[in-house]
Amino acid sequence: MTDLVTTRIDGEIGLLIVDSPPVNALSHAVRRAVLHGFEALTADVTVRAIVIACAGRTFFAGADISELGQPEQSPGFNELFNRIEASEKPVVAAIHGTALGGGLELALACHFRLAVPSAKVGLPEVHLGILPGAGGTQRLPRLIGIEPALAFIIGGRPIKAQEALDQGILDAIVSEEGLQEDAIAYARTVLSEGSPVVATRDRTDRLANPDGSSLFDDYKAKNARSFRGFKAPDLIVEAVQAATELSFDQGLARETSLFRTLAAGTQSAAQRYAFFAERDALKIPDVPSDTPTRPISSVGVIGAGTMGGGIAMCFLSAGIPVRLVELAQAALDRGVAVIRANYDASARKGRLTTEQVDRAMSLLTPTLDFDSLAEVDLIIEAAFESMAVKKDIFSRLDALAKPDAILASNTSFLDLDEIAAATRRPEQVIGLHFFSPANVMPLLEIVRGEKTAIDVIATGMQLARKIGKKPVLSGVCYGFIANRLMDPRLRQAEALTLEGPTPSEIDRVIRDYGFAMGPFQMIDLVGLDVIDRDSNARSLRSDLVALDRLGQKKNGGFYDYDEKRKPSPSPVAREVIETFARDEGIVDRATQSDDQILARLLYPVVNEGAHILEEGIALRASDIDQAAILGYGWPVYTGGPMFWAGTIGLDRVVSGLRELQARHGDTFKPAKLLEELAAKNQGFA
Ligand code: 3HC
Repeated sequence: MTDLVTTRIDGEIGLLIVDSPPVNALSHAVRRAVLHGFEALTADVTVRAIVIACAGRTFFAGADISELGQPEQSPGFNELFNRIEASEKPVVAAIHGTALGGGLELALACHFRLAVPSAKVGLPEVHLGILPGAGGTQRLPRLIGIEPALAFIIGGRPIKAQEALDQGILDAIVSEEGLQEDAIAYARTVLSEGSPVVATRDRTDRLANPDGSSLFDDYKAKNARSFRGFKAPDLIVEAVQAATELSFDQGLARETSLFRTLAAGTQSAAQRYAFFAERDALKIPDVPSDTPTRPISSVGVIGAGTMGGGIAMCFLSAGIPVRLVELAQAALDRGVAVIRANYDASARKGRLTTEQVDRAMSLLTPTLDFDSLAEVDLIIEAAFESMAVKKDIFSRLDALAKPDAILASNTSFLDLDEIAAATRRPEQVIGLHFFSPANVMPLLEIVRGEKTAIDVIATGMQLARKIGKKPVLSGVCYGFIANRLMDPRLRQAEALTLEGPTPSEIDRVIRDYGFAMGPFQMIDLVGLDVIDRDSNARSLRSDLVALDRLGQKKNGGFYDYDEKRKPSPSPVAREVIETFARDEGIVDRATQSDDQILARLLYPVVNEGAHILEEGIALRASDIDQAAILGYGWPVYTGGPMFWAGTIGLDRVVSGLRELQARHGDTFKPAKLLEELAAKNQGFA
């Protein structure tokens, strides 16, 4: 009928097939084509039931995210879905791949839902800062009940077909290969058996709620911690509550109004931006997506410390055998024990089965034999952060590694090109920079050296995804993207506390902004002796370390801790801060407003991001935002530092930096790129 929709008639059954690559997003054009095709089948008197299916890799992946936040064009979602639901001819949704967001909502408006065993269904809107705005909050509770619907929508996690069948979202699971034929047969059975066709909107049996509004208030209170900062979850609760208190049409209107509020807000704009940023980060202009990659079926990790162990776990969990190399048996044993303990903890929490743990551990070969690395496809060095040590390791690797092996360093700060120069194959050297804890944090910086070959980069990017990481490409500089970007926040936090605001005040402002913890809490957690250990200059940290205050692990740091690790302001730390301030000649200590604290800590991060972009270390501003969100827990609903700067106005950031520059010097000098964009009233995107 159109390029987007074809219809076919098989006896009494009309089949409507949508084909809008890559993921059949329900753009305005697709909705129009579906409505048109649906009306044609409805008008055909020979058709008594309708099957809706999709071609390509998946059922509808939901609304076209790039259209969200704009006025909805006709036919709107509800116009189309209400039309489908009101059909007198039974409508069957035939699902393969993933039915997500508006895609699942379309299926919920159909009278029957079938899926192949490998299919998944979900309402992931919450991850985009919105709520299901096409009837999902009204129809799902009618199908599966209130609390399961709340958990499903607020969790945003797609579930497998079998679970969806058990919950009552699906009516049947059909054969993997014959979806359309099975759906047609199902529709025929519905007709022949005269099965009752009940519109989801008319179901009320699952909506009973003896607890009244307290159920919803309790739900909000119980989840307040995980909802913190996000606007969508509370409004999702309100929308589901409306399903229990209002008629279907009134509930739908309430959902629309709440949806529009969220879709028009900054949080959703930021989260939609982050969705595309994650995908854009995979695109490297001179490394086309069809670049051949090297097979990696075994990995060597040098160093069984915290980083090395965590890195090894990433590969073991992905089913890739790892040789873990250490210098001494005791260190090796310790490293293996930590890996085992981490896996056991995951099993205890129900995240892994004991079989999965056993399988992962069986893929680990701990060894003191450096030469055995000659057999593996990829070697990752996670040794002590010293150039001399790394050069020595890489020259030894050069002598023994397979000719086409990839040699990677997990260095956080050192010059990858200098490390690569210790080999005769710098084109095979790459940085794979994991974030601690490496088995948990989603970011993996793929560091591209001056000579790193294209296929080595492509392999790194592909491998990252294979082990469940989100890669961001970085050029070579001190600290690469994420650590370099965030370093000013740490420095300014310390500088600022000398001027008056306490560590607790500064941490609170950063938490209120949306971070899980403030910079001083972070230093205490990581250990004062760990951060910046290569600097010899006197600092607040070095003064505290001199008193044997190493953070949570020993004697407290910027805070004191009780036996349950609950922090309280530390009189000792206050004394250290005041002494340091006096020594620095800072006498005029005073409190500052939250806005001043925020500007002091975060504007320099934006400025550093602008330098990173100017120097070509990051390919695009959104890669910097990804690195901050995934590596440092920057609140995703602000979009990351570069996006956030655009939302508050780059001119405001520039004038804030200029003020700080006038008071504190050129550390705060705005980057040229930042000034230029601000002058043109543009954002980084
Ligand atoms: N809208 C627009 N573009 C989309 C899209 C969507 N809903 N879903 C995916 N795309 C694009 C991606 O940006 C990517 O584009 P690119 O190739 O140019 O980078 C391309 O489609 C392929 O996507 P992936 O790389 O993510 O492909 P995968 O095969 O890895 O994953 C997927 C497929 C599971 C469908 C995944 O793309 C996904 O999760 N999509 C988003 C699903 C979603 O959030 N739906 C809810 C939308 S909001 C909504 O429906 C509102 C409603 O309630 C009114």
